[in-house]
Amino acid sequence: MNFQEELNKRTQAAETVLKKYLPKEEGFAVTMAQAMNYSMLAGGKRLRPVLMQETYRLFGGSEEVVEPFMAAMEMIHTHSLIHDDLPALDNDDYRRGRLTTHKVYGEAMGVLSGVALLNYSYEVMLTAFDMTKEKDRVIRALRIMADKTGIHGMLGGQSVDVENDGKPVKKEVLDYIYQNKTSALIECAMMTGAVLAGAPEEAVKVIEEAARGIGLTFQIQDDILDVTSTSEELGKPVHSDEKNNKVTYVTLFGLEGAKRESATFSEKAISLLESLEQKNEFLNLLVAKLVNRRK
Ligand code: IPE
Ligand code: IPE
Ligand code: MG
Ligand code: MG
Ligand code: MG
Repeated sequence: MNFQEELNKRTQAAETVLKKYLPKEEGFAVTMAQAMNYSMLAGGKRLRPVLMQETYRLFGGSEEVVEPFMAAMEMIHTHSLIHDDLPALDNDDYRRGRLTTHKVYGEAMGVLSGVALLNYSYEVMLTAFDMTKEKDRVIRALRIMADKTGIHGMLGGQSVDVENDGKPVKKEVLDYIYQNKTSALIECAMMTGAVLAGAPEEAVKVIEEAARGIGLTFQIQDDILDVTSTSEELGKPVHSDEKNNKVTYVTLFGLEGAKRESATFSEKAISLLESLEQKNEFLNLLVAKLVNRRK
């Protein structure tokens, strides 16, 4: 398999899906719609919708019902990025190769368009009820989305993250932060993919655990790139963690230590995926590549 070609195809497909669901730029609230679409259309790897679709395929899913969830997933992720960059949080000026939303539209619009994306994601997910007879699967997927993005997931992680800027952080707190600010949305993407395809309960548990490891690998690599990459390559500022005096895997374990930890989480995740009866070669490869990603 030509991995890069296959990945490009899937990223393109995810892009096409999410474009179908963006809000129309019209009416009195047109500026907010523009701000929402500005960040959604800035590019980005579209990793979470791709992971969702591949997990859906892993369990034999082949219907349209996954599409509103893919679009919603990227909206929630983008909401997390718009808010993460705000002056009150990481205070960063570039994202996805462009000025951040608050730099272009102002802080008020940054706050509002971020929340609006979160809310709109639920409007979009609710349309899934009209696409399938398996309403119970849609309900399950919605529950997972709500749980993994809120206080017991991404937002919980973000709150403990910013609260600890400039403070010493113990490994167990750092793991809480990573499992929530980053793994939770990856768990969410893969678990909803599985649930919408009707995966058995035990398999969804395996997916959740694998996705947790994938998220940890992903965030540790993000920390590594923050010190080893360039803003041109990443499309966002480097040394953002240092600027905010953040404890990361790199500050705790050094670069080599962080790479080792990241590889360990990745290997565990891959062996969990390989333990499943169902197979998706592309998914396993995608996960394996994340440990060395440069972007
Ligand atoms: C950035 O996520 C936030 C982290 C969890 C590190 P991505 O690296 O997936 O960002 P985009 O979507 O490609 O811009
Ligand atoms: C971000 O962690 C996690 C979320 C946005 C939920 P970072 O603050 O390290 O992400 P980047 O480096 O700004 O993308
Ligand atoms: Mg942050
Ligand atoms: Mg940040
Ligand atoms: Mg970072």
